[in-house]
Amino acid sequence: MRLVSKISAEDSLQQTMSDESVNVLMIGTGEYTTGFVNGRAADSDKSCGVVALTLMDLKRRKKTGRLSLCGVNGTKFPGIRQHLLDAIAKKYPASCFEESIKGLHTFPADGEVNEKAYVHALSTLNKGDAAIIFTPDDTHFEIALQAIRRGVHVLITKPVVKTLAHHAELAAEAEKHNVLCCVEVHKRVGSHVRGCARPNPCPGSLFFLAGLHVSAQAPARDLQGLGRR
Ligand SMILES: NC(=O)c1ccc[n+]([C@@H]2O[C@H](COP(=O)([O-])OP(=O)(O)OC[C@H]3O[C@@H](n4cnc5c(N)ncnc54)[C@H](O)[C@@H]3O)[C@@H](O)[C@H]2O)c1
Repeated sequence: MRLVSKISAEDSLQQTMSDESVNVLMIGTGEYTTGFVNGRAADSDKSCGVVALTLMDLKRRKKTGRLSLCGVNGTKFPGIRQHLLDAIAKKYPASCFEESIKGLHTFPADGEVNEKAYVHALSTLNKGDAAIIFTPDDTHFEIALQAIRRGVHVLITKPVVKTLAHHAELAAEAEKHNVLCCVEVHKRVGSHVRGCARPNPCPGSLFFLAGLHVSAQAPARDLQGLGRR
């Protein structure tokens, strides 16, 4: 199975490293992205989130441009901002995380509920920018398709889509629009599960970690379901 466009991952990474203005839109505001679940910090190893924390660190190191965050329910954003300030900015006062958190562009507007807010959020990106999609599995295809058709590179959490037809369609659209369409599968390569994973990835499969260098220290209870994921 192939999800890589005709530009190579290496070319794209080089471009990203030399161009500091790649804007990144995070789609999904849940546990993996912000660590904020049911109005409070998640009761797990991801209480600080993974995606937002990583991107803010990349922004601090001038590897990304504008960061934005898109969910469905804008009433959550005041709580999410406060949570990120408490969980990240206060914990690392010497970083510029506070500035990044206060400067986050969020969609939909605070107080608004809109499950298609990603359409407007994507319209604020330029071709060559990136979207990171951490939403429920059955929403990945439509959101990724809209992003790719706008010339935006995508990183989608696993499972990327639910059918082979959708997989093939995303691959074809990524090739047509000359963007990367990548799948994030950190649990396949994390040191804590290395012994459980198969020794070699499937031919043609792509492990793209996109600087997600914050390792997930998954608790044992997460690993119990590994065979089913
Ligand atoms: N990579 C991995 O190893 C791994 C592990 C577990 C889960 N996952 C995947 O990550 C996904 C997210 O996990 P989580 O723990 O953050 O889930 P979560 O339920 O905490 O958060 C999901 C978020 O998606 C948002 N969302 C739903 N529909 C949306 C839409 N149309 N537009 C924008 N946002 C939308 C929700 O508002 C919520 O903020 C899971 O559904 C699964 O697909 C990946």
